[in-house]
Formats: sequence, C-alpha cells, structure tokens
Amino acid sequence: MESVPDEVARALVSPAAYADDRELQEAFRWLRENRPVGLIDVAGFDPFWAITKHADIMTVGRDSTLFHSGDRQTTLTSQTDDANIRQMTGGSPHLIRSLVQMDPPDHQKYRVLTQDWFKPANVRKLETRIRSIAKAAVDRMADMGGRCDFVSDVALGFPLHVIMEILGIPEADEPRMLQLTQELFGVQDTDLSRAKSDSEIREQAALLQAVVADFDDYFQKITLDRREKPRNDLATAIATSVVDGAPIQNFEALCYYMLVATAGHDTTSSSTAGALWAMCDDPAQLALVKNDLRLIPLLVEEAIRWITPVKHFMRSATQDTRVHGQEIGAGDWMMLCYLSGNRDADVFDDPYSFRADRQPNKHLAFGYGPHVCLGQHLAKLEMRLFFEELLPRLDSIELDGTPTRSHATFVNGPKSVPIRFRLH
Ligand code: HEM
Repeated sequence: MESVPDEVARALVSPAAYADDRELQEAFRWLRENRPVGLIDVAGFDPFWAITKHADIMTVGRDSTLFHSGDRQTTLTSQTDDANIRQMTGGSPHLIRSLVQMDPPDHQKYRVLTQDWFKPANVRKLETRIRSIAKAAVDRMADMGGRCDFVSDVALGFPLHVIMEILGIPEADEPRMLQLTQELFGVQDTDLSRAKSDSEIREQAALLQAVVADFDDYFQKITLDRREKPRNDLATAIATSVVDGAPIQNFEALCYYMLVATAGHDTTSSSTAGALWAMCDDPAQLALVKNDLRLIPLLVEEAIRWITPVKHFMRSATQDTRVHGQEIGAGDWMMLCYLSGNRDADVFDDPYSFRADRQPNKHLAFGYGPHVCLGQHLAKLEMRLFFEELLPRLDSIELDGTPTRSHATFVNGPKSVPIRFRLH
C-alpha cells in the first residue's frame, strides 16, 4: 500500500493546520481523492486510519458494535498523553466516562436518561425563553456602538446561557463554566488553555486532569444539592437517575454534567460566528437570507456544515473488517474526519462554497449513528432564533480585521471575528 505523504499526514495531527484551515482542507482533499481510508503514521502518535469520505464515515458511525468509541482514546491523543492518562487512571485511556466514551450496552442505558429532554417536541417548548435570550444578545450587540468581536462579545454568551439554564446552573457561574470549557477544548491553544507556552502545552494530560478536577469540585455540590432538593432541571434528572436499578454513581453523574456543559455551547457559538464570517466574505449570501427569512433554517444547516466545529471522533475496530475495500485489523484506531465528509463532492455540489440556501444538506457535523449528537435539535433551534432576531435588524455588516481560528484538533472554530455593523 502506498503511504500518505508526510505533509498530508502531519496536517491531520497539527493544531496549527486546524487554525489555518486551507492546509487542512488540502490534506483532506488529497486523502479523499487518493487514499480515502489512509494510514496516518506520524511520530508521537499511534498510527490511525483517516476515514475521509462521507459514505465511509456513515458506515463506521452507524455500527457501534463493530466500531467502538471507548476501547482506545476517543479523540486524537499523542502517545505521551495516552501513557500519562493511563498512569493517572490506572490503565483506562479515559479521564472521564461520558456517553461519547461508552459502547453497547452501557451507552444506550445512559443515553436514555436525558434523551427525552433533547427530543424536538421538548426542545420546542423552550422556544419562547430561548428567543428572549437571543433577543437580549442582539440588544447587547446593538449597544456596542457598531463594532465588536462577534465571537467573544456576542456568540459565546448566548448558547452558554441557554444550556446553563437547562442544566440549572446559576448565571453567576457561567463565566467559570465558559472558562473551563475553553480550557478543555482549547488545551492546545495558548490563548485558551491553562498553559501559556508551547512547552507547558506538552503536558496536555496533566492540564486536562486539572480541568476535570475543577469540574468535579463544582458539580459534586450540584449533585448533593439536587438529590436533597430536586428541581425541574436537567441537573436533577441526572443526579436522581437510575441505571441498572441503582442510583447513578457520582463519577458518571459528573461526566454527564461535564459533557452537557461543554458540548452544548462552544460548538453552537462557533457555527453561528462562522456563518457571520462567511456572509461578510460573501455579502450576496447575507442578502439572500435577509430578503427571505424563511431561508434561515437552511442557513443554520449550512453554517454547521461550513464550520463543522467537531472535527473528528475516533473509533477502533473490534474485529478484522474492511472499510472502502481497505483491510482494517481488530484494534486498529480510526479517525472519522467530519470536516472532510462535509466537503465531499460526491454528496455536495460546489462543496467549498458557502451557500446559505443549500438544499439538500446531508452534512455529518453532528456525527452519525447511535452516538449522533443528542443536542442537535437544541443547537439548531438556538441558531434559528438568533438569526431571526439579528437579521431583520441588521442594516450593514463587514469584517473589521482578520478573523482567527483556534489551534485545536478536536473542537475548533472561529476564535475572533472582528466586525463593524449597523443595527436598528
Ligand atoms: C452545532 C452544534 C453541535 C455540534 C456540531 C455537535 C457535534 C456533535 C458530534 C459530532 C457528536 C458525535 C459524537 C460521537 O460520534 O462520538 C456529538 C455528540 C453529542 N452532543 Fe453535540 N454538537 C453540537 C451541539 C450540542 C448541544 C447544544 C448539546 C447539548 C447538550 C450537545 C450534546 C451532545 C451530547 C450529549 C453528545 C453525546 C451523544 C452520544 O455519545 O450518545 N451537542 N455532538
């Protein structure tokens, strides 16, 4: 088998390539065209298969018995960090045990605990409340004198507030939750991580362990409080849930809160900010939606495809198999490259163009199969309501500097989108 060129392989493991985007997109394009299931073998990482075609990502995603999430690292992790984590945990590759690290049969047992909360019918009940939070965010933007950094001043706060209300976390603690989320997903980025230099960033396992300890500290109190005084919030549903006839263990409850508290906002704000950035680059797309606000649901899907904030999840094969004709051995590690699937020309016309009215739009940004994003209906509702509040009031908008993306191989997106605008 021909090997994957070094520069292509290195891009897939380099946080800087994810911040640049062009380098990463080129690497994915090469892989899709030449080695759709390509072996990435870079010093410092266990070799893994990059699954880059849309159809193959679905094939692997749909079968959680053949392809496990929890046997090896669930996200790209260096050999050093893997070894350090296993030493910290006494052998497990995971610092936490949430839905994304679970496999059958446990995965389903834990997923049902909150599934009803995130169903479209339940999420729709929140529409009035979420709209008022969206309106408040747009009002704050209007008060900013026509210039702001859309990411830090607007996009980050809105979905954070929504998910914290659902979880039942007091507003005063939101900055702490935001900081911990950014330290978790931004661990490779010196602007976001606890590490402030490249040498400190090499201690990734220790950095992550410290963040988990802080979440633990915070959520232990929440668990005790909700068990004593149940309320109508998601934290109560988790704290008082029963698995296999016994109350959920404290560690599993903690991991559940952490997953919901972190997965539920950074991703949504990145997609929102990415859409605005794309429409500043191509004002015709903005005009299209402003002229017909019924297109907003399509704009939302395209925003999520365009940014694909969760760049990958890893799987490993439980037995020898084949994907796209390529032999995969039992235990082999695989990267589901969602961003690549979302630029696959077999599925998307003109995949490198942002088209606000793209339809159909069968993107894989929420994953696929039994682990498909639990919060997808909430994320889409939040973004729809936000754009419904923003776009009718937006008289003009343009970039006011050069946007940047975060250095992160797992969850990444716009870090700063400076804009100049007029709102009425
Ligand atoms: C645009 C926004 C979002 C994107 C792109 C996104 C993406 C994803 C992806 C790709 C997965 C698949 C994990 C896997 O295959 O192992 C996932 C899972 C998950 N997401 Fe989201 N997500 C978003 C918003 C949200 C929101 C708002 C929540 C609300 C709490 C949420 C909660 C979850 C949970 C709990 C899982 C785990 C599901 C499981 O493993 O069974 N996400 N998400």
